[in-house]
Amino acid sequence: MSQTSQPDPAKLAAARAAVALVQDGMKLGLGTGSTAAIMVQVLAERVKAEGLSLRMAATSKATAQQAEGLGLKIESLDELGWLDLTIDGADEVDPDLHLIKGGGGAHLREKVVAAASDRMVVIADPGKVVDQLGAFALPVEVLQFGFESSRKLIRRALHGLGLGDHDVLQRLRGSDPWITDEGNFILDLPLGAIDDPVRLARALSSIPGVVEHGLFLGMCDLAIIGKGDGSVVEL
Ligand code: 5RP
Repeated sequence: MSQTSQPDPAKLAAARAAVALVQDGMKLGLGTGSTAAIMVQVLAERVKAEGLSLRMAATSKATAQQAEGLGLKIESLDELGWLDLTIDGADEVDPDLHLIKGGGGAHLREKVVAAASDRMVVIADPGKVVDQLGAFALPVEVLQFGFESSRKLIRRALHGLGLGDHDVLQRLRGSDPWITDEGNFILDLPLGAIDDPVRLARALSSIPGVVEHGLFLGMCDLAIIGKGDGSVVEL
């Protein structure tokens, strides 16, 4: 790595192992977040060293900007059509490889890109591995239009699922609303524990105004968990 600040060794180990899966000629999806940013850096170094010919789509404006700054050409997902491999981070990974994503507010594009990939590989540090999803507040992207109604409907849905009364918090950037790359707001649901992610995902997806939630169920094919000593564990 040629970064001036030292990257987290666990994230770097996971990033290196994932980049080792990349083969010449592949079409790739590049994730978002601090772990994905390390991966993009490692990937750019490999492309330069080996002269790999890759085509790439990014899951956020931030990742596109980083990648282009490192000399990687970013194209739109539609230009690429379908991807061989997407490498992305996660906020939580459970034993079934179900995920919570969206801590970086990019889960909408991340889900679209992962769904358009033959394979999704998650890279993470050991702090992301959980027995049960839900300690990380679940991000839900909602339209700005009528978002207070969407918020009420989400609260009502949680109640209807027997989850009790929960806060549905609007994510802020400083004192302003957090606006996603698609121009929407984000609501964070601090649920504590999610007993039935499939049921919750279905309920959230059926609420008008909800654009996408951060539950990635059955989408991840492999999770590479890096450790501080540079080794990795695959789940
Ligand atoms: C962004 C994401 C990220 O992948 C997730 O938040 C993990 O980020 P980090 O690697 O910085 O912990 O889902 O929307």
